[in-house]
Amino acid sequence: MKLSLTTGALARVRADLLAVAVPTGGLDKSADLKALDKAAKGALKAAAKLEDFTGKAGESLRVHVSGVSAKQVLLIGVGDAPQKPRDARSLAFRAAQAAAKLGSVAVVLSTDDDDAIRAASEGLRGGAYRYLTYLTGDRLPKKQLEHGTLVVHRKDAAAKAALEAGEILADAIVLARDLVNAPPNDLTPTALADVAKDASTKFGLDFKQWDKKGLEKLGMNLFLAVNRGSAEEPRMVHLVYKPGGNQKTKKVAFVGKGLTFDSGGLCIKPAASMIDMKCDMAGAAVTIGIVLAAARLNLPIEVHALFGATENMTGDSAYRPGDVFKSYEGKTVEIINTDAEGRLVLADVLWHAAKLEPDYLIDHATLTGACMVALGPWTAGLFANDDELARRYLEAADSEGELYWRMPLNDELRESLRSDIADLKHTGDKHGGSITAALFLREFVGKSKWMHLDIAGPAYLERPHGTSPKGGTGFGIATGVRFLERLAAS
Ligand code: BES
Ligand code: MN
Ligand code: ZN
Repeated sequence: MKLSLTTGALARVRADLLAVAVPTGGLDKSADLKALDKAAKGALKAAAKLEDFTGKAGESLRVHVSGVSAKQVLLIGVGDAPQKPRDARSLAFRAAQAAAKLGSVAVVLSTDDDDAIRAASEGLRGGAYRYLTYLTGDRLPKKQLEHGTLVVHRKDAAAKAALEAGEILADAIVLARDLVNAPPNDLTPTALADVAKDASTKFGLDFKQWDKKGLEKLGMNLFLAVNRGSAEEPRMVHLVYKPGGNQKTKKVAFVGKGLTFDSGGLCIKPAASMIDMKCDMAGAAVTIGIVLAAARLNLPIEVHALFGATENMTGDSAYRPGDVFKSYEGKTVEIINTDAEGRLVLADVLWHAAKLEPDYLIDHATLTGACMVALGPWTAGLFANDDELARRYLEAADSEGELYWRMPLNDELRESLRSDIADLKHTGDKHGGSITAALFLREFVGKSKWMHLDIAGPAYLERPHGTSPKGGTGFGIATGVRFLERLAAS
């Protein structure tokens, strides 16, 4: 979808659907809306009266109009609360969804500061998202939303840059959604690495990958243990974005869990939990999205993105409960439950990333069902060994309207990872499963300032929520990018 900015009278905005935010109290609250209604010969007020639309948050009303350039007007109630950028995103998102079967949509922003424009631009593109790759014939939509316009009061350079930043973010989010939604027979570990390679060529990032032999040479035996039961080759991928010029910048490394399918291995999952397990590479998808957006936004910060991609399967070489492997970092690990595979892959990749000595080391992973039990489907668990990092991240998340909740790294639980025969077991006791998973990861980050984001809930949704669609969401990219921008400016 092409996006643009326009200024001027609402009655003259050309679009199949013109979406406007209406505060409590209705159309009389704004001179712009009054003028629009007048041009539409009072059709808006008449419809609002008939349908009892008063502008309360959650209300919406579609009105066919004549006398104005738009074919339909969508009134969206936004209530009394002062409008934040995230409200602009959700307004634009709803407008794009309402216009899904039309050709063009325009959105009237009630505040048009840069952040609102950026969020609305992201929301328009994100709202038009549908995963169509595997549909054929009549299952394909006849029309797609082709043009989106934001109606603002200014079209200066800053407004245009904000529009473009929103598009860049949305592109990254859409890519992550596509990757998460892709079926695991096609999105194999090698295919995921190829996507990262193509994107890095396109946007000028450095790209490196390791195959099974390469991982053996490094000694990534925990990662390789998970791969043993799979017929598909594993891949570790490392993307680097370095800003131009010679300025000294901060360095942040992101690590992602890239399980293209998690059957649970020999400790096999029941069918009802296995069906969603193509989503288990969402951490890798978010990691790719963040580094691509950082590069396209030319952020003055060095960003590394690493992920470990493999399947967790039950082939006849599959790793077993009771096996012991030596990690890349050096500690030996006794395998307890082969379904706790993510932390094994992450352990080796985290250690590789820690050796790059980044200012911050941040991993995204669909790591534990326990995190969803604790926080529900929409909130990510945030574990950090550095308060400043946690604070900065939570602030960025708040600006973007993504939900994170800080969880404790309780040292008391560390003893549940004690093994009789190896340095560590890789799972803890029955309770506190998302915390013991994080404590296991902490063993492999050295002295890094590190944060682990458990996105098992929000990465992949059973039904749409807010501005997230059903299926892959791209959750985490907006916050990651905002964090990098603020860090660069600090
Ligand atoms: N990929 C799963 C976690 C998951 C569950 C992600 C639901 C998204 C939705 C992970 O590999 C896993 O299986 N974790 C186990 C750990 C347990 C065996 C200690 C879990 O959460 O049950
Ligand atoms: Mn698992
Ligand atoms: Zn998993």
